[in-house]
Amino acid sequence: MRLVPDGILREKAKKIGKIPITLKQYTADMVETMHAENGVGLAANQVGSLQKVAVIQLPDWDEPMVLINPEIVRREGEREVEEGCLSIPGYRGTVKRSERVRARALDLNGKVVRIRAEGLLAQALEHETDHLNGILYIDRLVSQDTLHRIGYEPSSEGSGAGASEDAESEPAHPRQE
Ligand code: NI
Repeated sequence: MRLVPDGILREKAKKIGKIPITLKQYTADMVETMHAENGVGLAANQVGSLQKVAVIQLPDWDEPMVLINPEIVRREGEREVEEGCLSIPGYRGTVKRSERVRARALDLNGKVVRIRAEGLLAQALEHETDHLNGILYIDRLVSQDTLHRIGYEPSSEGSGAGASEDAESEPAHPRQE
């Protein structure tokens, strides 16, 4: 997993022309990584590739969605929502997102897929297309003050004795994109 401040996270992915035969396996590996990290979405630059491709799988979906050359073609409404990112582990913050989006992408067969989404799917689509444009959620925070640490914090030696004792009982794996 590429983590901030890795420069590839700030690069724009390159549009995929002819879909390479290897992309099916590549995206299957991305899905595996996303599952292993308890994510609901993953963009290729997060795993070191500048191909314009992302995967999304919401918690209640049986199958992942592979999005080749995804674009948001319409945004409606505005809301503030908490968000995290696998490339910025241990943090979450409040960002401004659309209430509803329409997106367009290709599937692995090169077929055009049009998606109307709201809620978590709209958020994930915006988050992953942002990644492919070199944008991170920390660029969209409503305020820097909303960025906060989450979950387990390693104890620091020599201070706060016992501070880490109950860290494990905190909510372990909030959703990350
Ligand atoms: Ni992310």
